[in-house]
Amino acid sequence: MALRDMFIALSENKVLNEAAKKYGLKMGAQHVVAGTTIEETIASIKALNKQGISCTVDNLGEFVFEKSEALAAKEQIINMIEAIHNSGVDAHISLKPSQLGLDIDKAFCLDNLMDIAEVAANYNNFINFDMENYARLHDSFELMETINAKYNNIGTVIQAYFLESIENIEKYKNLRLRIVKGAYKEPSTIAYQDKATIDANYISLIEYHLLNGSFTSIATHDHHVINHVKKFAETHAIDKDKFEFQMLYGFRTDMQQALAKEGYHFCVYVPFGSDWYGYFMRRLAERPQNMALITKQVFTK
Ligand code: FDA
Repeated sequence: MALRDMFIALSENKVLNEAAKKYGLKMGAQHVVAGTTIEETIASIKALNKQGISCTVDNLGEFVFEKSEALAAKEQIINMIEAIHNSGVDAHISLKPSQLGLDIDKAFCLDNLMDIAEVAANYNNFINFDMENYARLHDSFELMETINAKYNNIGTVIQAYFLESIENIEKYKNLRLRIVKGAYKEPSTIAYQDKATIDANYISLIEYHLLNGSFTSIATHDHHVINHVKKFAETHAIDKDKFEFQMLYGFRTDMQQALAKEGYHFCVYVPFGSDWYGYFMRRLAERPQNMALITKQVFTK
């Protein structure tokens, strides 16, 4: 079995996910997860804010098939929005519809999302809808549109590996969009498979959104893309206030700080919570070099 498949299989193992919740961050996960509690996470956000970096905060959660679990996730997200407000940190929320009940009942999920969006709107905060696998894509977009029609404080994600990504970006051209390459395994009937094609489509989607003037979050660890965007923005006189770079918490931190120092808006995706195991395994699957995170901890203990 390839290393990637092994880590994906581990990330999907419910028994291991449940077992890991009982322990604090282990195996090096503390390098890529900001904390298990809201208090720890706010402290991590403050440290990033001090470096001129803003944050988008994600309450980790896997396998939500019970309404009680979705309600608990909603409560935790609302508590986080309140903690962001009370502590005055520079951060907003990223969320996944599946964690709020999409796989249980779409109407129930909508109610939960509405409650969250209302609290966020009261505090003048912003919500980003992360996009998951293709099976959830259109329902997630529909929920996002319904909520945005009421609160107008929502943005979402465009995944460049989808063949339909160009239609989706045209459809949502007035929204604040995070553009990513795409993280899930999808068939060739709906998604590009070849890395060069995905990378080329990724660049053209970024250019499209930058040129049409809506706020663009370029979420990647790929320095080729980042350098391209810097040049493109300069050539086309695109104001630095119209875009930001995003990376995941704990990855390429030197580059995060360097870009912030150069005067680019930089936003770190900050995952938190006790349900860290699946997220950590997927990061290892994505890039086997991330194994160094584990090794480093073993050797420094
Ligand atoms: P990719 O993995 O393609 O690597 C390209 C090159 O960049 C590598 O060859 C290497 O040279 C360099 N590189 C990459 N990582 C490095 C590292 N850690 N250290 C040194 N060099 C490195 N996906 C999704 O489907 N839905 C979503 O909502 C999101 N949300 C999201 C938010 C944020 C903030 C990020 C950063 C990413 C996501 N993603 C996502 C994940 C995204 O789709 C994608 O799977 C990963 O970002 C990996 O692709 P990259 O563009 O980062 O580089």
